[in-house]
Amino acid sequence: MIFVLTGAGLSAESGLGTFRDQGGIWTKYDLSKVATPEGYAADPSTVLDFYNARRANAASAEPNAAHRALARLQGARETFLVTQNVDTLLDRAGAAQVLHMHGRLDQVLCNKCGARWHAPEIMDPFDHCEHCGAQAVRPDVVWFGEMPHGLDEIEANLSRASLFVAIGTSGTVYPAAGFVEMAAAHGIPTLELNLEPSGGVFDEGRYGPATGIVPAWVNELCA
Ligand code: APR
Repeated sequence: MIFVLTGAGLSAESGLGTFRDQGGIWTKYDLSKVATPEGYAADPSTVLDFYNARRANAASAEPNAAHRALARLQGARETFLVTQNVDTLLDRAGAAQVLHMHGRLDQVLCNKCGARWHAPEIMDPFDHCEHCGAQAVRPDVVWFGEMPHGLDEIEANLSRASLFVAIGTSGTVYPAAGFVEMAAAHGIPTLELNLEPSGGVFDEGRYGPATGIVPAWVNELCA
């Protein structure tokens, strides 16, 4: 099984910003104000403005050749696909199973009862939960300081992978940043496909825009 971890670089050529590159999202916004539970409690309107804008961008973006190549890979080889991204471009490219470890922009979550449903066009801090009626609705994304989704499933699959591949991620945010070391500790070969070396320790690295290097790599595997 091939374990694939993706990050913002996968969607960069679809026009969605990355976080830490020059001009990245965290160079324009204070993440403590828009991507933490404390920030949301202090000023939900500002946080929802941030996510409503990102959601509109993601909804109008199209999957690129790298997303489509990963969907093709998943159809041809046993592939466990984990994304840190909150866009759904891999799903829209046709990937059948994507683990959204940082949540997803197209859903909202009720902080009271845990219900999830498709996000309205514009999220409003005074929205009520469709299931329990509580005024406790928030974007279904994982904020800093919160537990990512699916860690048990991720660790179970990581331990039995035949190859670990990181695509378009700077490897700076844990626990995702630690997956490559976990793979290496299991003796699993590791490959980085990125615009430039992230500084992580990989057995192999191929560098360039994802829309070039990812399809080329998938073509080798699925030839
Ligand atoms: N093709 C391939 N890689 C690219 C491209 C591209 N066209 N453009 C940028 N990259 C690479 C950059 O070199 C960088 O290594 O993508 C990576 C993006 O890194 P970040 O902006 O840090 O994004 P990511 O690693 O996904 O961030 C992880 O941090 O802020 C949190 O929750 C957020 O999920 C995010 C997490």
